[in-house]
Amino acid sequence: MPAVEAARAGHGAGDGVNAPAPGAGAPALLRADGVRFAYPGGAPVLDGVDIAVPEGSITGLVGPSGCGKSTLLALLAGLLQPDAGRLTWSEDRARPPRHPLTMMFQKDTLLPWMTVEDNIGLHFRLTKSTLDRSAQKARIAELIRLAGLEGAERKFPYQLSGGMRRRTAFLASVAPHPRVLLLDEPFSALDEPTRIGIHQDIFHIVKREGITVLLITHDLGEAISLSDQVLVLTAQPARVFKRFEIGFGTERDFLGLRENPQFLALYGQVWEQLAVQIQRSRRPAGQAAA
Ligand SMILES: Nc1ncnc2c1ncn2[C@@H]1O[C@H](COP(=O)(O)OP(=O)(O)OP(=O)(O)O)[C@@H](O)[C@H]1O
Ligand SMILES: [Mg+2]
Repeated sequence: MPAVEAARAGHGAGDGVNAPAPGAGAPALLRADGVRFAYPGGAPVLDGVDIAVPEGSITGLVGPSGCGKSTLLALLAGLLQPDAGRLTWSEDRARPPRHPLTMMFQKDTLLPWMTVEDNIGLHFRLTKSTLDRSAQKARIAELIRLAGLEGAERKFPYQLSGGMRRRTAFLASVAPHPRVLLLDEPFSALDEPTRIGIHQDIFHIVKREGITVLLITHDLGEAISLSDQVLVLTAQPARVFKRFEIGFGTERDFLGLRENPQFLALYGQVWEQLAVQIQRSRRPAGQAAA
């Protein structure tokens, strides 16, 4: 199925309308409706954010630096509260045995005195896990196998490559079987071939486990190849400028995708919209938006 730009018909590129929500009528695990937020004493960082995230989907969020992407993730995680508008989660979001939400950041959060397997199982130690000890060990071993980290179980973070550390951090965030995973530039420190290798494994894991993912990234290739929808945010105050539906399905060859004409065409389309907003974000203070 070709990838489709889903911006509302009748509006040209660059007019800044919000695209219609994906799968109109389909139940969303998470919705943001008219969300506005300002830090104390500051101008609004977000204003009029409308997002619908279908369960089990991957949503890529791209936008100019400083537009409010990490702030939006903090709101979705419940770390901040909106000043206006609503964030709505489906009622059964926290239904056991799944954990409601985990996060992974750009910064390395592995504990240096713990081995790979202990870092991955950290959640089980810190919470009253419903899994018994042998089930926890089995879960950790399964994830290590899926991410190709066999042989590194007893290594410490300083003994790992950058890619192995990121794989370990990712596995730590999915070990509790979260319903939602929030990723904020998780692989930006890695070189591209390493990143693409990780994409293949993490995509397989999140689809296999039905995890709903929101992914912030500055790497358009990463956003397009991993996502089911890509949202381009406006310059601050941020809202959704354009929505692109990505139709590459649940079986993806991440190396091959980079040469796929549909991928390349989509890359150009998303970049065109993002460039409009980067341009706006660089406008000198006081100059009105076009
Ligand atoms: N704790 C805070 N207090 C006040 N202002 C903040 C705070 N955190 C972020 N901001 C401001 O909010 C705006 C949005 O920041 P945010 O980190 O959400 O942007 P971003 O899109 O994630 O940027 P980047 O792409 O560079 O990571 C920026 O102007 C920033 O200075
Ligand atoms: Mg950020």
